[in-house]
This record gives sequence, C-alpha cells and structure tokens, in this order.
Amino acid sequence: MIRTIESTPYTDQKPGTSGLRKKVRVFQQPNYAENFIQSVFDAIADKDGATLVIGGDGRFLNREVIQVAIRIAAANGFGRVLVGRGGLLSTPAASHLIRKRSALGGLVLSASHNPGGPDEDFGIKYNVANGGPAPEKVTDAIHARTLTIDRWLTVEGGDIDLDTLGEVTVGDMTVEIVDPVADYAALMETLFDFAAIRAAGLTMAFDAMSAITGPYATEILENRLGFAPGTVRNGTPLPDFGGHHPDPNLVHAHALYETMMGPDAPDFGAASDGDGDRNLIIGRGRFVTPSDSLAMLAANAHLAPGYRDGLKGIARSMPTSAAADRVAAKLGIPAFETPTGWKFFGNLLDAGMATICGEESAGTGSDHVREKDGLWAVLLWLNILAATGKSVDAIARDHWATYGRNYYARHDYEGVESERADALMADLRGRLAMLPGTAIGDLTIETADDFAYHDPTDGSVSRNQGVRILFAGGSRVVFRLSGTGTSGATLRVYLERYEAARIDEDTGAMLADIVAAADEVAGIVRHTGRTEPDVVT
Ligand code: G6P
Ligand code: ZN
Repeated sequence: MIRTIESTPYTDQKPGTSGLRKKVRVFQQPNYAENFIQSVFDAIADKDGATLVIGGDGRFLNREVIQVAIRIAAANGFGRVLVGRGGLLSTPAASHLIRKRSALGGLVLSASHNPGGPDEDFGIKYNVANGGPAPEKVTDAIHARTLTIDRWLTVEGGDIDLDTLGEVTVGDMTVEIVDPVADYAALMETLFDFAAIRAAGLTMAFDAMSAITGPYATEILENRLGFAPGTVRNGTPLPDFGGHHPDPNLVHAHALYETMMGPDAPDFGAASDGDGDRNLIIGRGRFVTPSDSLAMLAANAHLAPGYRDGLKGIARSMPTSAAADRVAAKLGIPAFETPTGWKFFGNLLDAGMATICGEESAGTGSDHVREKDGLWAVLLWLNILAATGKSVDAIARDHWATYGRNYYARHDYEGVESERADALMADLRGRLAMLPGTAIGDLTIETADDFAYHDPTDGSVSRNQGVRILFAGGSRVVFRLSGTGTSGATLRVYLERYEAARIDEDTGAMLADIVAAADEVAGIVRHTGRTEPDVVT
C-alpha cells in the first residue's frame, strides 16, 4: 500500500522563527509541501504507532495540505492522527491536544498573523511532545533533511471527510476527527472562574478577524460566559481572512480600537490573530501594550483559580519591556529574558521555572500549554476585572503607580531590501564596542551588545538575537530583523523608557528623543531610505 514518490530537494525550506512560512504559490510547487512534511518525519524518531495531531487556522491550502499530510503520516507508520473538524485547530488548542492525548507531536498549518489567500502566505510548523514548537536542534535536523531528500512516502487512497466527527482508516492508520473547541474550552474552565466572570455583567467586543478564534470565542464568550450575541465580531474563519491582515494590532484591528475609544465603548475589547495565539487588549479608553499586559496579568494572576498558588517565575523575550521584571522582583520570583520566539519559553515551563511568559509581539501565555494563547489572555483579563471590580484603565493606573511605567513602542520598517537591512545590522554590530560613553542629545549610551541567551535548563547558547543599546537611566533601544516575514526584510526597532513617577504622559512624546537617537546610532534613514516606519505598535 505504501508508495514511494521520487523527489529532489528545494533549497529554501529552512524553518524560521515559527516554522516554514512561504507564499502559497511556493507551497503549490510540485512536491514542495510533501518534501517538507516527509523531512519532518525523517527527522523524528519513534513514529511507529504514535499519535500525531494535525490542524490549521483554516487559511487557503489548509484542507489540501491536511489531506496530503494524513497520507504521508500513514505511510510513515503513525498509528493515529487527530484532526480538528474542518481541518481547524487554533495553535494553543493544538498544543493542548498534543499534551492531552500524549501525541508524539503535531503539524500546525498556519502563517499566524500573515494574510491568507492564493497570493498570500501559508506555513507548516512542527510541534513536539510537550506541545511546543520544535526546538532548534529539531528544526536544524528537519532543514538538513530537506537538503538531501530524494523521496517521500504516501499511501493509496483519496481524500477523507474532514467535516464529520468520528474515526476513519487510512492505510493502517486511524484518523480521528475531533471537535476543535471542546477540549480547549474545558481547559479554560479549569483555569478561570467562569461563574464570577458571568456574574460580573461586563460588556465586551471581541474581533476574531475572520480567523481561527471565531468558533472558540463564540463558544466560550457567548455560550459559556453569557456575553451578548454579537460580542464576537468577524467570527467565521475565512480562507483569506476576508482580505484582511489577521494581526491584532492598532493598525489592523483599527475598527476595534475606534469602538473602544468611542462614546459607546464596552468595558473590554480584545482581538486575536490568524491562528489564535496572539492577543490585543483594549479597555474602555485605554490601550494596554503587550509588555504592560504581561506585567499586569502576572501581578494579578493569583486572582484566577488556576494561578491561586502564585507564580514560579516570569519569562519575557528580550525586546519585551522590563515591566514584568519589576513584578517578578516584587513577588520575589525569578525573571527570565529569552530570545524572540515562543520556543525558548518551553524549556523554562517544562522545568517548572516559569509560570507566565510574554512577548512584545502580542503573545502571552502560561504553563497550561506550550504556545502563547490569545483567548487565555482575554479570559485572565476578564477574571481579573471580575475579581477586582475595576476597569482596565484603573488596573493600568494602579499598576503604574505601584511599579512605575515603561513607556514602550515598536517601529517596523517593512519590505526593506534584505541587503540593506543586513548592512544596517552588520554596520551596527561592527561598532558595538565603540558605542559605550557616546552622547546623543541628552542620552548617553551605557552599554551596547548583541543579545546571547544561555538556556539555564540545557546549557544551549543562542547568539546574535538582537542589538541592545542601553542608555544611562534605563532607557533602551533594540534592533532586530524579523524572522517571520516572507518577502524582503523587516527591521524592528523597539523603544523603551522607564519613569518611576511620571506615569500619565503621552507615549510618543516620551519616546521622541529615543527615536531620534535610534536613527543616529543605526543610520536607519541612511541604510533603508525610509524616513518613517510603516507600522508603529
Ligand atoms: C512568532 C512567534 C513569536 C515571536 C514572533 C516574532 O509570532 O510565535 O514567538 O515573538 O514570531 O516575530 P518576528 O517577526 O519579530 O521575528
Ligand atoms: Zn499567531
């Protein structure tokens, strides 16, 4: 029954920050997806009889690639594949399913917050048995295999029905179509006080951005928590996300922002991205940056049943503001600073060293799964609002009054020619040793380095994770190239300023001199030819 299909390698299948992401047209080349999936299976051991989870965010190509992946899995000896009905699984729900069903791993089909459709992006990510993204040693092995692959395996047979719950057989393997929402919703009920949230009588708007969280949010927010019908907007997953960019930031979730700043704003507003792992939090009249959200959630997590016993530690990615570190210090628990990419949190969570993690890129999560989790962040916020009876704005102000405020923004320069972006970074890296002591306007550079992470759990070292320029007094600018784009380069400039007492100022005004210093130190205009960032978040 097993057929061997001859193939030749593609040289561009190196997984990035979060799996292999390419244009749909790239994935549509002959053997392209097949080569990559087979390379994943060739790179991992113990497949015989094992369970594999497969699901995606419903974007264009999702169903086709799932059908192919099922047949390749059957030919490679898996015993059982779990697929979300309709081919759907949010990234956090996939992580939970892998853990709950003791799967060997999972294929998560998504390009996260990138647009979908025939001319847009697709992606394949492999997650390992802890439910988290494969660590670098696994993705390196997968990449190495893509460069030598000469065949992929499949079984005879046509497509199966992805829309009916139950079991079917493909080759010698069982395929189980599961409800994509049920297990995840049940997990959320163990972590949060649904009765208290229901009783609080809050109003909210949730923008699912025509992406995967629609069915999850409708079931949890409207059906289980009793929010009014219509609370979930854009709740049907569409293959092209309705032509929108499913990235929950102030640019792409602008309608929600307008609602929350308007006269009829509900108590709470939130959005999630293409695959459901990111979150945007906006209270009535108050946007909360992801870095602040992490700090505020950590400071108040004990109010939710799942975190009643306190936190073991808090982890954040390096470009994320240091607001969470201040919470950790006050709680007397460790704070960890990791490179960008959720996979670096997995080891800390597995080792029981951290409970809550977060990133400036709108990702927050905890040890309940091994991915960041958009709806989880929404529910923890709702639990905190219900338990305190306070508004988002009041929680933010109280937090800053206690800890001081880390003013923060990220400036993105998108679609920069790769050579120019690389030249900027190389130029900057070449001058790091000379920078300390340099005065720029009123700022003086104290230290400058290229972030390297020493993983405390396994001793592994990840270098060149972004250039950090620290100014005297605690202000900071970080430069890094995005690892998730599919065309050209995106330069990210992360700006941060700490104020102990001036907590009610305008972020743009507070960061203006750091923005100017960033250009002076890195020559952004000179290298990129851009005078303005494309996106400010
Ligand atoms: C993905 C990962 C995140 C990471 C982000 C960074 O979303 O899951 O963990 O923070 O990419 O993206 P970037 O484009 O900055 O490399
Ligand atoms: Zn995502």
